[in-house]
Amino acid sequence: MAAVINGAQPYVPSPRYTLNLLQTYVREIEREGGFVEGDEFNMLLFRTLQLVKGTTEADPLLLQYLSFSLGVGVHPLAVRVGPFHNDVGLRMWEAGYLLAEFLIKNPSVVANKRVVELGAGVGLTGIAVQGLCGGCKSITLTDYTDVTIANMNHNVSLNANWIQENCPGAPLPEVAHLDWEEIGCSKSIAGCSSLSSGDLLLAADVVYDVSVIPHLVKVVKLFLLSAAGKLAIFATTFRNEKTFTLFITCLEKEGVQYQEMKDFQYDALFDTFWKQKRDEVRLHTFSIGSSETARCTQHATKVVQK
Ligand SMILES: C[S@@+](CC[C@H](N)C(=O)[O-])C[C@H]1O[C@@H](n2cnc3c(N)ncnc32)[C@H](O)[C@@H]1O
Repeated sequence: MAAVINGAQPYVPSPRYTLNLLQTYVREIEREGGFVEGDEFNMLLFRTLQLVKGTTEADPLLLQYLSFSLGVGVHPLAVRVGPFHNDVGLRMWEAGYLLAEFLIKNPSVVANKRVVELGAGVGLTGIAVQGLCGGCKSITLTDYTDVTIANMNHNVSLNANWIQENCPGAPLPEVAHLDWEEIGCSKSIAGCSSLSSGDLLLAADVVYDVSVIPHLVKVVKLFLLSAAGKLAIFATTFRNEKTFTLFITCLEKEGVQYQEMKDFQYDALFDTFWKQKRDEVRLHTFSIGSSETARCTQHATKVVQK
């Protein structure tokens, strides 16, 4: 029983999920005129309430696992999250789920590509895509804080067998440090080389802080200019339309073209218990004209090598 309610173990439901399940169970039994009692049930309810009470105190160091049975493999996909951690990279965001669901439904978008993800957070998107045979040539998941990078490495290791069982031979996602604010400065960074050698840039829910938009724009421009024919796909939760408008206005000034993807196909695979909304998430592609690419490639290469 402890294993079932202990949210700090992989592959078990969170305390809040368990509590909701128990409440639904009691409600359904009572609706039929029954009554739930018994020491074992009471103990489970009491222990779950204690755990949930702990989580409502918002312990920033609390780590939990979210697991998803995606219809393949013996084990579910599991990722460790810190639901109350100050670092937003330790949580899952609906745009990350949607981006994974879109890529899994449309594997030709990533097939045989060297993929780089910005602000990959817990790493679920890349792990899911590789484990469901997206067929990326390589996939590099980048982020910038030590705690996010360490957690993402943990999640990749945790799912290494799941990926190999479901999709033998698929390269495991690599994790690299890439701080948008360091782009173009003299410090050499690991994520920078994957940026210049990548074919496809992905990002989910990274356009939310006005102060980092100039840096993010620089990263996207640098990526698109490093060779012809590159594409970026962003999944964005529209909390404040003005923030995204600022982002695309800055990109347009840099010669980047954008397009919103309408009516795209995806299956809601990550059916989270609390039903995060997908309808506030929009997908956009970013690219650059070939003449602009040729003019700037030399310059961009120099910046990356700095
Ligand atoms: C809202 S979270 C989205 C995480 C994940 N993509 C998802 O959808 O679940 C934003 C992500 O951007 C990362 N981020 C924020 N500022 C950054 C910066 N300057 N450089 C690199 N990553 C950054 C955060 O660490 C975090 O992982």
